[in-house]
Amino acid sequence: MKNMLITGGCGFIGSNFIRYLLKESDYTGRIINLDKLTYAGNPENLADVQKEYPKRYIFIQADICDEPRVGEIFDSYRIDGICHFAAESHVDRSIVKPDAFIQTNIVGTFNLLEAARSRLGQTIRFHHISTDEVYGSLGKDGYFTETTSYQPNSPYSASKASSDHLVRAYHKTYGLPVTISNCSNNYGPYQFPEKLIPLIVLNGMEGKSLPVYGDGQNVRDWLYVKDHCVAVWMIMKHGKNGETYNIGGDGEMANLKLVEMICDILDETNPLSDRRSRRDLIEFVKDRPGHDLRYAIDYSKLKQDLKWHPEVTLETGIRETVNWYLQNRSWIDRVKSGEYQTWIKTHYC
Ligand code: NAD
Ligand code: TYD
Repeated sequence: MKNMLITGGCGFIGSNFIRYLLKESDYTGRIINLDKLTYAGNPENLADVQKEYPKRYIFIQADICDEPRVGEIFDSYRIDGICHFAAESHVDRSIVKPDAFIQTNIVGTFNLLEAARSRLGQTIRFHHISTDEVYGSLGKDGYFTETTSYQPNSPYSASKASSDHLVRAYHKTYGLPVTISNCSNNYGPYQFPEKLIPLIVLNGMEGKSLPVYGDGQNVRDWLYVKDHCVAVWMIMKHGKNGETYNIGGDGEMANLKLVEMICDILDETNPLSDRRSRRDLIEFVKDRPGHDLRYAIDYSKLKQDLKWHPEVTLETGIRETVNWYLQNRSWIDRVKSGEYQTWIKTHYC
């Protein structure tokens, strides 16, 4: 690959992936970052990259649903690889207003696939980023494997499931070279602060209440974003055409326990002025409708085939993440724009 199109590169995982590719991986080509800049997209996430790599990093503000524009970009930049991150990604927002999820996650993915299909002679490798949420919910035992049947429970996960099926079908029907990865919940630097971990860190820093849905016993398998980036690049280079790979973090934890862990780290590194324990700020709030109980990934296929495993433990990763937010207050202040405030006001009040 010499000209890689990355969609959604100004979001949380996409920006970490671009930084990893340019600064740490063996990729030597150009990156064309196509991002619409929704509330979740922030070009400041890549300000350092833009300065350091003016020839190898190109940013284009565009919508993946804009078919002619996508076609133009494919031709102008001679795209030969795609890593498709762009999506509406927040489950709670999908419950309140699913429309954009259907457009971007389904129609947008369809547009990219069509652009690649109409240039099939040019060999364009398509990597699709998906989620473990397409598999639905686990009970107390068991793990999601690549052959677990799809049972999405939210408009978000249903839209991601649709896009996965389209990618698979374009491989089977048209022979498009594709790979798909389904990962668990990511965390780390540059995550928009409406998702659980950054929300708790930010509210905790400010001594505000810490909202936990239901009884806090829902379990997620937390994956440090850098580990995810390494896995995606390995799959893009060495993954088998047409295959799906699960990516997990070995980081299962119930939400309440995770929130308590963040409280303790903040108390230790940045105590409140009145020395109160942040655990006192935890507030149990109304549960999310259709809230999946547990996600847990079996990543043994990726381990066996590509020798990948997560390097960062949950404890270490959370400490590093808390530290990053403590040291990047100006980023936080700028990200907490009007749109963020509106969401917090309407969702939690
Ligand atoms: P994010 O919400 O932080 O970023 C999404 C990016 O996509 C933003 O920069 C946004 O501006 C861009 N975008 C949205 N609609 C667009 C459109 N129509 N055209 C072009 N750009 C558009 O998301 P994230 O957390 O970085 O997730 C990236 C991908 O990983 C998504 O596909 C998501 O489903 C998947 N995923 C995320 C997680 C997680 O824990 N964050 C877990 C599993 C899978
Ligand atoms: P989230 O970060 O939204 O990711 P996802 O829904 O994709 O798993 O939520 C992670 C978990 O945290 C999920 O079980 C819902 C829960 N949660 C809360 O308890 N309180 C909150 O304020 C938020 C945003 C999430």
